[in-house]
Amino acid sequence: MVRKVPAFAMKTGPLSAKLVVRVMPSVVAASQVALEELQALLTTEPRALYSFATGATYQTMLLSLHRLVVDGRVSLATSYVTHLDEYLGFAPDQRGGMVHELCAACPSMLSLLRRGTFLPVPGVGSKTALAQHEARLLQLHLPRLQFLGIGRNGHIAFNEPGALHSQGFHVTKLAATTLQDAAARFAPAAVPTHAVTAGPASILSAKRLLMCAFGLGKAAAVRAMLEGPIGPECPAAWIRQHPDVLVLLDPLSASQLQNTVVVHG
Ligand code: F6R
Repeated sequence: MVRKVPAFAMKTGPLSAKLVVRVMPSVVAASQVALEELQALLTTEPRALYSFATGATYQTMLLSLHRLVVDGRVSLATSYVTHLDEYLGFAPDQRGGMVHELCAACPSMLSLLRRGTFLPVPGVGSKTALAQHEARLLQLHLPRLQFLGIGRNGHIAFNEPGALHSQGFHVTKLAATTLQDAAARFAPAAVPTHAVTAGPASILSAKRLLMCAFGLGKAAAVRAMLEGPIGPECPAAWIRQHPDVLVLLDPLSASQLQNTVVVHG
């Protein structure tokens, strides 16, 4: 299922005007920087829309975010939250799904869900539901900050190798490595074979991108993302076309980089 996104969402230059790659000493240190990005946004733009990625990469940041909310040091009360993708057919409260995962790691988000300020990706995946979701994001001026992770095959959100750059939210078939990586999450049941995902064009329409990648298992994908050709063989490489990107790595995920200028710490 292919959906067109608003034309302005595709206005990206050939190369990022501002791509900063930071190699942090640990996952905890990198997660702290990612969290500070969100805190800064919530302070300067308390009504902003921001969008999470799900998966192991962001568990540390989400747990810390929840603690800050509980301690009254961060308020999510006026902001709007969304995320990148959902397994096809999954309802927001369904175990194994992305919204369920976000709320399990950061239960403070449950109240946003109840209030309607958490915009779940419609797992139903129908054209109408996806169009409504995109319209709502547009109404909220698109994500101000988009958190991203990378698959070991170079996917971003669930845009697998071979994805189309111009796609907005759409239903996609998951690659074999993605199914393997999600096996433990669904065991003993089988992993859903399809998901609803923000397309490359939807991702690039966010104002600022924050990509986190940790561990040796991501090193080859990180190298392809930052040093390989920009194209569908490594969808994450498209972030280099965005004008404002921060990449946070740990020493293991950065270990195969050869020509990238990085900032340590
Ligand atoms: C999920 C998403 C994916 C993950 C990627 C890494 O919302 O956007 O692209 O970020 O598969 O997953 P983890 O963090 O589990 O290694």
